[in-house]
Amino acid sequence: MSRIVYVNGEYLPEEEGKISIFDRGFLMADGVYEVTSVLGGKLIDFEGHAARLARSLAELDMAQPISHEELLAAHRELVARNDIDEGLVYLQITRGSAGDRDFVFPDPETTPGTVVMFTQSKPGLADNPAAKTGLSVISIPDQRWARRDIKTVQLLYPSMAKMAALAAGAGDAWFVEDGVVTEGTSNNAYIVKDGKIITRELSTDILHGITRAAVLRYAAEAQMEVVERNFTIEEAQSADEAFVTSATTFVMPVTEIDGAKLGDGTPGPVARRLRELYIEESLKSAI
Ligand code: PDD
Repeated sequence: MSRIVYVNGEYLPEEEGKISIFDRGFLMADGVYEVTSVLGGKLIDFEGHAARLARSLAELDMAQPISHEELLAAHRELVARNDIDEGLVYLQITRGSAGDRDFVFPDPETTPGTVVMFTQSKPGLADNPAAKTGLSVISIPDQRWARRDIKTVQLLYPSMAKMAALAAGAGDAWFVEDGVVTEGTSNNAYIVKDGKIITRELSTDILHGITRAAVLRYAAEAQMEVVERNFTIEEAQSADEAFVTSATTFVMPVTEIDGAKLGDGTPGPVARRLRELYIEESLKSAI
């Protein structure tokens, strides 16, 4: 069934959603994106995603071509028109098309940004069977650019890392730089040791996950101890538990790292509890 997508203010059948071959998102990966999950037909943490989008645009000196109100209205309109109960809304904003290829940024006054949005229906997002078995990950060198805090569409290396993980029979990869874990291909990484939740501190080295912020807040409210510091693959392999967070996986237990099983190889109690807490609490504030 054809989806209704959003392209620069218009709602169109997906076959009719088109942008220029000169769009800088296509030619130069000059674009940013957000992925907002939908549960029960409602947006999870929309305000967090909108705030990070504004920050990504500002860091790249890119104009915000759509107001906050329009952005929210379009998200809701797409969810309604595509009848999404569980799934996500993908949003991408690029620096637009100046009608040619040039390394120089075009003047935003004459070249408006391109705004594209579409939905993906994912029934079973909350009741994901993978959360019951857990994920195996492999480690891989982090060869991405140095501004990973900006959510750009330069996803070739993460995509290659995901392929390497699948080829190795694993589910995902964790990036390692200077001997310590940065994050997953499309998620933030955590370990649990003696009841403490350990995750890398925020910096330009990792994406400031919206799910991460919410999970750490709920964990603190539930009197769970959170420590923001680096950890190595070896430390992770001897941890009691590990997990990842993202808008598409929520809290997903990790049960194997580079072939070493964690504990008894099944999802641990902290990850399971955090997943429940996250879904329960997020639903309360979904809009
Ligand atoms: N990825 N780190 C990276 C590199 C990511 O790409 C993502 C999200 C996260 C988690 O961020 P959040 O909790 O805000 O989703 C961390 C999205 C889901 C994607 O690319 O599909």
